[in-house]
Amino acid sequence: MRKRPPALLSQVLAINTLLIAGTVFAASVAARLDLTSGEGLNQFLIVCLAIFATVLANGLVLRRRFKPLEQLVETMDRVDLTVPGVRANPARDEPAEVQVLREAFNGMLDRLEAERAGAASAVLRAQEEERARIARDLHDEVNQALTAILLRLQASAGDAPAELAAELDETRALAQQAMGELLKLARELRPTALDDHGLVPALRSQVTEFGRRPGITAHFETDDDLPELSPDEQLVVYRIAQESLSNVARHADASTVTVSLARADDDAHIRLRVADDGVGLRTPSAAPGTGLGLAGMRERALLAGGRLDVRCGERDGAGTIVELAL
Ligand SMILES: Nc1ncnc2c1ncn2[C@@H]1O[C@H](COP(=O)(O)OP(=O)(O)OP(=O)(O)O)[C@@H](O)[C@H]1O
Ligand SMILES: [Mg+2]
Repeated sequence: MRKRPPALLSQVLAINTLLIAGTVFAASVAARLDLTSGEGLNQFLIVCLAIFATVLANGLVLRRRFKPLEQLVETMDRVDLTVPGVRANPARDEPAEVQVLREAFNGMLDRLEAERAGAASAVLRAQEEERARIARDLHDEVNQALTAILLRLQASAGDAPAELAAELDETRALAQQAMGELLKLARELRPTALDDHGLVPALRSQVTEFGRRPGITAHFETDDDLPELSPDEQLVVYRIAQESLSNVARHADASTVTVSLARADDDAHIRLRVADDGVGLRTPSAAPGTGLGLAGMRERALLAGGRLDVRCGERDGAGTIVELAL
């Protein structure tokens, strides 16, 4: 870590001390202070005490005047653009220069947050559009081509000699399987269930699909009276659940995962929770930022005006809980 240069307060105090000591020393020389006599020594001690008292008073006054600047620097150090809304508040007895600096800093934060939110939302929107385009292409182009292959295979199987018929049947089964996987991929890319049926059925089917994997049981819990969410908010909830489940599959080694969507009565109005009983975050503080998944989830939560919390499970610290409050 780079060593910080001495604080402005210490520098001013040091210069003032030197100036005071220099002035007093010059005055003593001019007054021909005789340090060998008792009276001269007394005068010298009084001069030293006076220097000390002056430096102390100077220090106290300067500290008070510099406090607003130090508070501003502390706030600047604390600001983290992933936690928006932190602003420097006016300090007591704030000098005009510090006020100008503070207002400029707050203005810069406003602009940075707005630009960051704009850029992140453009990236996420572009990502969603690209996914929708790929899903459409997969569905319309590749799926059509596979359907044509299937129909031809079916027609060929009818006229084929017996020894070829079995092989054609097998090829048809393979093409059918490829079609199924293709459609599943297209659904994951663009959750049409979300557009067609709404958030709760789309989440339920996502969880049910997840629970089909061997070795894991998936539960979905929800309240009956959930508040209305905008389409963007629904997409955020859906994508965060999707990435959390994909993390459970890839990293957790869990046997149970519970996804719950509930009404919240505190500052948030809805809460999504994905809790697993797996190995947990091995390095809780290092985990955020290691992949793109958690960072993307945080970004989405932020854009929808929500908060994402990723922590160790509540029972003996086992497992992982991902919680989104919107
Ligand atoms: N449910 C979980 N259980 C255990 N560890 C987890 C869980 N979720 C995340 N992690 C840990 O947090 C790290 C970061 O997750 P993140 O989703 O950001 O990245 P990733 O899954 O490794 O890669 P990406 O999502 O970008 O493909 C993971 O590498 C993993 O170590
Ligand atoms: Mg991930």
